[in-house]
Amino acid sequence: MITMTFDRHRRLRANAGIRSLVREHRVTVNDLIYPMFVEEGLKGTSEITSMPGVMRYGLDEFRKEIVRLSSLGIPGIILFGIPSEKDELSSSAYADKGIVQEAVRAAKSENPDLVVMTDVCLCEYNPAGHCGLVRDGKIVNDDSVQLIAKTALSHAQAGADIVAPSDMMDGRVQRIREVLDDNQLTDVSILSYAVKYSSAFYGPFREAADSTPAFGDRKSYQMDPANAREALREAESDVMEGADMLMVKPALSYLDVIHRIRETFTQPVATYNVSAEYSMVKAAAKAGWIDERAIVMEMMTSFKRAGADIILTYHAPDVARWLREEN
Ligand code: PBG
Ligand code: ZN
Repeated sequence: MITMTFDRHRRLRANAGIRSLVREHRVTVNDLIYPMFVEEGLKGTSEITSMPGVMRYGLDEFRKEIVRLSSLGIPGIILFGIPSEKDELSSSAYADKGIVQEAVRAAKSENPDLVVMTDVCLCEYNPAGHCGLVRDGKIVNDDSVQLIAKTALSHAQAGADIVAPSDMMDGRVQRIREVLDDNQLTDVSILSYAVKYSSAFYGPFREAADSTPAFGDRKSYQMDPANAREALREAESDVMEGADMLMVKPALSYLDVIHRIRETFTQPVATYNVSAEYSMVKAAAKAGWIDERAIVMEMMTSFKRAGADIILTYHAPDVARWLREEN
């Protein structure tokens, strides 16, 4: 008789029931946040060519879409606005009747239980297309922070549950917290885009949001994709400043960073499965080169395995439908 000394790992893969019992991570509809684009003055919808299936919504269609998403069980959305006017001070970003502010009110009136997050940034609202104020060709920090905080406040006053600053200016979380607290909005959370890389994976989004920089790039404020230790410093500052949740963005090429943030901090971790990550899947699926559903579910699972609690993804409605079919 030969004595076998190796482990039989295959035992726990023997059938679907056992595999399910020992499965370590699961994607559920509760993990998903759907990013949505609302355009001021738009009638109906307009499709974003580079992101098949993703639309810009006028307010009426936006309301209908909120109802559809809610019926799929999607717990929340994050809003991006396309204003009809841009100016140097990004004034439409913090206008009481601005497009995001109106969309927040519309979403809450359709479904008060929907978690409404807003992206807080200036790049869609100024002609330079930068995330902060531009002076002498430079993106200034401290004055940008004042406008970012003003924007966050107006979103919160419109009824947003969570404000998510994506500008990458230093000190903005602290200033947002102060301004919210001074206005008795102590229950509004801050989801910080703490770790946001300067990434080519945002290309299609900039078409969607009309926010391509008119000059230069975002490398003086967004992070260098080569750096991981720096991600821990960014996250640490935001936690000290009062961030309730941390985001890593993009997702697919940064799973190691998601994991390190998860291991180092106790705050909930979100990741943003960004526009080009979506577009690449859509293009390959359309060509018949990949199994879209299997690929997307494997990606979602990898975000959970890396340590994300929350996934912001354009695939959210499809994932919600597929999960429903499984049960
Ligand atoms: C703007 C913003 C961007 C994204 C979210 N907020 C683009 C950028 O910084 O250039 C990217 C989202 C995506 O690509 O899906 N501050
Ligand atoms: Zn921006």
